[in-house]
Formats: sequence, structure tokens, C-alpha cells
Amino acid sequence: MTVEKIFERPIFLAPMAGVTDTAFRILVRELIDDDFSRKNLLMFSEMVSAAGIHFRNEKTLQMLQTVDDERPTAIQIFGSDPKLCAEAAAFVENLGTAAVIDFNAGCPAPKIVKNGEGSALMKNPPLLEEILSAVKKSVKNLPVSVKIRLGVDSEHINAVEVAKRAENAGVDFIAVHGRTREQFYSGVANWDEIARVKSAVKIPVIANGDVRDFDSLDKIFSVTKADGVMIGRAAQGNPWIINRLLKYFLTGEKLPPPNLDERAEVLKRHLEKIIRFKGEQVGVREMRAHAAWYTKGLIGGAELRNLFNRAETAEDFLKIIEAY
Ligand SMILES: Cc1cc2nc3c(=O)[nH]c(=O)nc-3n(C[C@H](O)[C@H](O)[C@H](O)COP(=O)(O)O)c2cc1C
Repeated sequence: MTVEKIFERPIFLAPMAGVTDTAFRILVRELIDDDFSRKNLLMFSEMVSAAGIHFRNEKTLQMLQTVDDERPTAIQIFGSDPKLCAEAAAFVENLGTAAVIDFNAGCPAPKIVKNGEGSALMKNPPLLEEILSAVKKSVKNLPVSVKIRLGVDSEHINAVEVAKRAENAGVDFIAVHGRTREQFYSGVANWDEIARVKSAVKIPVIANGDVRDFDSLDKIFSVTKADGVMIGRAAQGNPWIINRLLKYFLTGEKLPPPNLDERAEVLKRHLEKIIRFKGEQVGVREMRAHAAWYTKGLIGGAELRNLFNRAETAEDFLKIIEAY
């Protein structure tokens, strides 16, 4: 997929570990209501460990098993060793199923940062540039992208420098989450800093952070002048949002939010898909978190979530939905 084509449909589902697995990506795609967009919109995978790929870790390899219905998908890898990252990127490209190789330089989780991975790389721009150059060299045909934060903390905002180094390394486009590592997911995303990145590089920039509705979509585009926007938490329990925002971006039409019946129907489809890919035991356990998001704001939602948390089987889950 060319970069130009990717940015024809510039509303992207963000990579979210534990959320944007194959089941969820297919669901989001099925809810895209125009044919061309459904077939061409890029989505991002959960982050996948470069070391895990190197050691052929079974769980890691499972995460790379994408299916036709969810393509095109960018597979995101993380790591801190240029050689391992380059090898992992080539491995993923050779599987023939990814549309883009994305690199994670934004994850703030302590277990990742303490290994010098994810957002820890914002502290070491030369190493990040080295990794991105190595990845870019090892990938033959696919676009390579990187996802960054603004910096490690408010005293060390360096997204512009990092973005320039990424461009220098040959990266094809860049996504910027408008927070520092120190902020994790708190506070308000700083879109002005994303605007600074956009004006500093020639490669396309995707703005990310706090987009949840039509209004915030308009604002982030107007503040940042970015080429695309990425939606994370607002998609949790809300797979319709990508279709609604994409449609609005392309046509100006504001589709209404799903009604209760549609929510129940999609929750059931989500359950069916997650079980298809992960089996009933794991699938039902993982669905509890999704169900909590789907039921946010519903009358009797707390009670409903208690019931979901005790569900052990798909049948338990379906009974709770029907009873509600
Ligand atoms: C549960 C969760 C998991 C995430 N996992 C990843 C990940 O694997 N890779 C990544 O680059 N960002 C990850 N992120 C960050 C999101 O992609 C996004 O940058 C962030 O949530 C800000 O966007 P939002 O305000 O639209 O949620 C994760 C975020 C959340 C909430």
C-alpha cells in the first residue's frame, strides 16, 4: 500500500495492546459502511515484541497471525536493539500480511521503559534514529512508520528533533501522541506541539490524543494541520467511532451514535470473534474489559458489569445481554 493511498482515508484506529487485536480490528472494519474505505482503511495492531519474534515466542507469533478480513493492517513492533528490530521487521514483512511496519517509541509502561524500549527511546534520539534506519534498510517494499510521544517529560520536549531524525532515517510517516511519557494518559494532549512537528518535517504526520467526537476531530485537524488523525481510547467499547469520524471527514455527514439494540448486536459479534481467535476461556475473560467499555453510561451499567465479570462461558455472556 502506498503512503499516498494510506492518507486517502486518514482516520486511523490507534494501536492498543489488549484492545486492538484481530477480533476488534475486523469488527471496526465491518462497521465501515462504504466499500472502498472498508477495503482500504489502515488500522494498527497491538505492539509486538521484536525480541519475541527473534526467539519465536509462541504468543508473539500468534499476534502476527492476521487474517484477510482485517487487512490492511500496520503491524507495530517494539524493541531497543537495532539489529533485533531490523530482523523482526524483515520477518514481519516476509509473512506477507502487513501493509506497514510501524515502530513503537511511545509506550510508557514501566516494564517496557525499564528495558529502554517504547517511550524510553525518546530519551535517546540517536539510538532511535539508528533503529529506524536499520528497520528501514531491512524492509524491502512496505512503508515504515514510527509512533512517538512529545518527550520524556515536560522539561524534555523533543518531538521535533525526534521527528526530524525519523525523517532522516527514511521513515515514511509518523504518528505523534501529544503527551509526554511522564503523563501516561493523564492531562490534556498538547496539539500545539504536534503542530510544531507537522511544520518541521515533510513526511505525513498523524496527530493523536483526546479525539473522541466530531468537534475534537475538527479541532485537532485545524490546530495541527496534520495529514491524519489516530483514535485510541474513544474506540474502546465503541468500534463505530472510526466509521462515524471517517464518514464525517469524507462527507460532512454526522451519523448518530448506535442505539441499544445495535450495541447489543455488536457486543455479541465481538464476543463471537474473540472466541473464534482466542478460544472460549481466554475470549470470555478478555471480553469482560470490553463489555465494561460497551456498557459505560448505561442505566444499571454497574450491575451489568458485575454480571459480566462473573461470566465464565459465552452462554453466560449472551444470557446477560438478552436479560438486559
Ligand atoms: C489500553 C491501551 C493500550 C495501548 N497500547 C499501545 C500500543 O500497543 N502501541 C502504541 O503505540 N500505543 C498504545 N497506546 C496508546 C494509544 O495508541 C494512543 O496513543 C493513546 O491512547 C492516546 O490516544 P487517545 O487519546 O485517542 O486514546 C495504548 C493506549 C491504551 C489506552
